[in-house]
Order: sequence, then structure tokens, then C-alpha cells
Amino acid sequence: MPEILREPVRDASAWTGADLAADTSWRVAIGEEQRASLLAGLAVVQERGLWLPQMSAADFPVDAALKDLVGRIRSDVRDGRGFIVLDGFPVEELSVDEIRLMYWGLALQLGTCLSQDARAALVADVWDRGTIKTPLKRVYGTKRRAPLHVDLADVVGLLCVRQAASGAPTTLASSAAVYNDFLRERPELLPALYEGFVWDRFNENKPTEEATSGRRIPVFSYAGGQLSCRYNRPWMTGPFERAGRKPTNEETVVFDTFDAFADRNRLVVELRPGQLYFASNYTVLHGRAEYAEETRDLAEKRHMLRIWLNMPGMRSFADEDTVRFGLMRHGNLGWTGREILARRHLDPKAERVMLEA
Ligand SMILES: [Fe+2]
Repeated sequence: MPEILREPVRDASAWTGADLAADTSWRVAIGEEQRASLLAGLAVVQERGLWLPQMSAADFPVDAALKDLVGRIRSDVRDGRGFIVLDGFPVEELSVDEIRLMYWGLALQLGTCLSQDARAALVADVWDRGTIKTPLKRVYGTKRRAPLHVDLADVVGLLCVRQAASGAPTTLASSAAVYNDFLRERPELLPALYEGFVWDRFNENKPTEEATSGRRIPVFSYAGGQLSCRYNRPWMTGPFERAGRKPTNEETVVFDTFDAFADRNRLVVELRPGQLYFASNYTVLHGRAEYAEETRDLAEKRHMLRIWLNMPGMRSFADEDTVRFGLMRHGNLGWTGREILARRHLDPKAERVMLEA
């Protein structure tokens, strides 16, 4: 059994929604100079005719003002509360593809950006594509509630291009706060959480790969004085469905208790156009409320743009390959732009030897 942390987490990563309702220093306005730098960067990559997979960090010019913003994002996400909400990203009078390019240019400064689905989306469109009726499908193409969870890469970015008329609040929660609740109220469940669960690959595996992770991915793990969390209920119950059995009562209690603790610690943030967050998937859970939307017009639909990236120097891990779920070297996910250009995501036998920017 791995080392179990028996003290509450007291660093900046442990916060509650109530704490952050009073202290809004997690909201950072992008300054005029920084907005001008982002637009100037867009003009440079457009002038050169570059598209997402062709771009590297060096292709997007970064001046001192933008460098400050990148440094703030990195320190808040990696070493602070685990997330930052930025306000004032330029979206007005720009096409979605222009916004995509500029967002990608910013994200490349933070780390290695990776594809997020079997179709190799680099900046994924998060909007309603109609109700998904088949099981083992991901929730982001629907209007359904997305319970608090983590994504597969180190960091997730979500930028609002257009909000639903009814609103659709984003939720964020500190996984360290969830941990502290388990420690205080249900410590007997900690061994099962450290042991973890097998994760499903949601049918986005290569034909040569198993449909699940096979090994257990710990929900909580502790290394180097830092607690990390991996929790995504549908991905963790997928293997049960696949095997035609239900989780045991004890397993269901673990899931239900986690969800309840996450919910009661949540911070609700209504993202408006031009607002975005970056969040560490080791310390912050994210989700979204269910929302109503009648329109079928893509120009009117709620529209978010999502980026997944791995950030250098992220943190220590008890076992990198399991905690980071194989460092995204699995399934047909997690390809870099350069690998996509080389069409490696289309090669069923291609293995990722290393991740390069
Ligand atoms: Fe997600």
C-alpha cells in the first residue's frame, strides 16, 4: 500500500467555494497591453499562414507584458490554487478560427499542447451536438450536467466564445479540500481511494490497445509533499459497464461520497465571452451545470474552446505512469501538433516515444 497522507492539506491548493467567493484574487484581468500583444501574435501567425499543428511556442511572439501573464498563469496553476480565471481575452469581432489560433499561441507558452479525442482535435469545440444515447461516450458534446471530474492531461484550458442564453455555470473544486473532508469524516475510505480504479478508454483506444487502462489509477496519491488527485466517475465506472457488472455497494459509497464532498466545496463561475480558465487536473476538479438551449444554429449555440496541455516541472508523482495515466501515451489521444502533421495518429502501430513541443 502506498504512503497515505494522514494530515490535512494546508497549502494554497486547499480552498473551498466559500473561501473564494470572498477572495476573488483568482480572477485576473488581461491588461490592454497584453490584449494588444495577443492580437499582434495572431497577426504574425496569420501573416505566415500557420495553422495549429504547425505552430510551436517560438512562432507566437511574446513580449514582456505577455510573459508576465504566462508566468502568472503557470504559478497559479502549478504552485498555487491550481487554477486561474482570466477576463478580457480578445474575442470581439474575431472569427472562431482566429480566436483558436491566438488561444493556441498563448497555451503553447505554458507547455506541450495535446490532441483530445480520436479525431485529433487540438482546440476542441465544446458545444451541444445532440443527446448522446450510446454508453461510454464523452459528455462534452451534450447539454447535460458534467459532474466534477479531471481531464487526462496535466492542465485543461476552457475559453468561452459564447454563453448559453440561459447561462450554464462552470464549477470548480479543490481536490485537496475533498481530501480533507475524507480525512475528517470518512478516513476508512482512504485506502480504497489510494488503490484507485481501472479507467475506461471510452472507445478511443487504438485497435492494438486494450479498452481499459488495465491497471488501477489512484484517486489520491502522495509524493514529494504533494497530494495529487485523479477522479472521473464515468471513466472509472466504464470498465464495470464493459464487464456487465455494477460497482459493489462499497465502491458506490466511495464514488457517491467523493461526488458529495466535491459538490459542497465547489466554486461556481459563470464564464462570459472572453473569459477562460486554466486548471491543474491534479488539484482542481471541473464540471458544468446542465443547461437549456433550443437553438440549432451554431452561430448562436453555447460555445467553449478547450485545450489540453502538459506543463513542465508539474509536480512529483508516486508513480508517474499510473498517476498521469500513462502520460497520455495511450489510446488515440495526446498527440502533439508535430506528430499529427506526421500523421502518426493515423498509424495504428505508432507508439509515442517522447512528447515534443
Ligand atoms: Fe473535463
